[in-house]
Amino acid sequence: MIDDEADRRALPGNGLPAERVLAEVRALRGGDRPTHGGRLFAYVYDPAVPGLDELAATAYAGSAHVNGLDPTAFPSLLAMENALVGAAARLLGGGPGRAAPDVVGSVTSGGTESLILAVKAARDAHPEIEAPRIVVPASAHAAFAKAAHYLRVAVDTVPVSALTLRPAAADVAAAIGPETVLVACSAPSYAHGVVDPVAEIAGAAAAAGVRCHVDACFGGWTLPYLRRLGADVPPFDFAVAGVTSISVDLHKYAYAPKGVSVLLHRDPALRAPQYFAYADWPGYTMVNPVIASTRSGGPIAAAYATLRHLGDDGYLRLAAATRDAVAGLADAVRAVDGLRLMAEPESTVVCFTATDPGLDLFALVDELAARGWHTQPQLSYADLPPSVHLTVTAAVAPRVAEFGPDLADAVAATRAAGPVTLPAELLALATTLTPDALTPDLVAGLAAGLGLTGPTPAGAAGPAGSADAAGPGGSPPGRMAVVNTLLDAAPPALRERLLVEFVGLLQRPTW
Ligand SMILES: Cc1ncc(COP(=O)(O)O)c(C=O)c1O
Repeated sequence: MIDDEADRRALPGNGLPAERVLAEVRALRGGDRPTHGGRLFAYVYDPAVPGLDELAATAYAGSAHVNGLDPTAFPSLLAMENALVGAAARLLGGGPGRAAPDVVGSVTSGGTESLILAVKAARDAHPEIEAPRIVVPASAHAAFAKAAHYLRVAVDTVPVSALTLRPAAADVAAAIGPETVLVACSAPSYAHGVVDPVAEIAGAAAAAGVRCHVDACFGGWTLPYLRRLGADVPPFDFAVAGVTSISVDLHKYAYAPKGVSVLLHRDPALRAPQYFAYADWPGYTMVNPVIASTRSGGPIAAAYATLRHLGDDGYLRLAAATRDAVAGLADAVRAVDGLRLMAEPESTVVCFTATDPGLDLFALVDELAARGWHTQPQLSYADLPPSVHLTVTAAVAPRVAEFGPDLADAVAATRAAGPVTLPAELLALATTLTPDALTPDLVAGLAAGLGLTGPTPAGAAGPAGSADAAGPGGSPPGRMAVVNTLLDAAPPALRERLLVEFVGLLQRPTW
């Protein structure tokens, strides 16, 4: 379809007909993981509602060129943003007549931006604290570490129990010091899908006069519906007095296209330090509630259309389908000798590990991928073993019956093949090398040896740690187990450096 070298360029000498360009994009998309079909357990959130994609795309297109930079110039965007914030707030205990009547918020581009801004608001509320710190459970999303890194805030990490996968509230309380500006917790955590003891943690934060952010990016849209369906969901939202801010991603379980999260604050004073305003230059006066300045209206309009179309009853139905799918998948895991659930599912995650050393989880992930199931491997961390993560969405429900037999089959094949063994020199590298000792030559050699670089790197957008992105650089799916085994053997600092180097090798311009 792309017939000569010059035509591969994003900027060809002569412009191409629209149909041809669209055909190219479709062809490129053909190499991606399937975003529909209920067999991809990470990255995408699929309600399997007919017509929803088209509706969201139409709404997106109609507002794609609208600029959120100035809410007075484009009142449509302001209206839709305020409506989204109101909907999220109502779901999470805010609004007139509720626990937090004065809740305000902003629409951001995603969970990471919401968390960065929650940390920024907390930091900037205390200009007198010279070296601000945040207290974060080890299970909290990596975006808190990113926020701290970007904002030069120190992180006090509280360990989680290997049994409950939650931090002890007493440990969180003990970690709060005079320089703490924010305490964070998850509802639920991404890795294992468990809800932290929010009430106790928020109580400890409030007693110390410190803000408490509940990261409900992942499951904040689903937990209220699961509760309405009868699940025993502990208090986690603004009904908990000490909770000062909550993030919830609409591009996750609200099933909106990518690029929309909501950051809520209990009152306007808490939100104030989130803003950035600047009038000391010769151009337009600038006031930004979020990190981006120019903002497309596309994601906001698409999210608005999605919420209006699905409605409260739609989300309740989708939560019921998801709950049933989670139960079915968990049963399938329980039925396999040698696997164990990391936690009893309490949200929309199924996460399991191996109890049998002969059962190599990373190889199992590849075997599942070979059978069309794209799961997410999680490396070992502290005293937690490696595990396999499944983010379950409503689209999985009709597929559940097929999963059990394929899982059993994949486990049998994994056992028969035996654990992945790294060549001795690779294992030595992973365990003894310091990140600083990684030379470009060493990285290039490693990447080539692992099959991470090859003639067609365009297929490899995911990090090397995501074994579900089977076959980067044209390598066979089986090779990802080797990559993950190598990463798993390395300490986190070396893992990080290897990931940066590997992905850097993939991100090269096409000329
Ligand atoms: C609990 C939690 N917080 C934050 C994030 C980051 O969200 P995003 O990828 O939209 O930046 C995620 C993403 O999975 C998440 O699960």
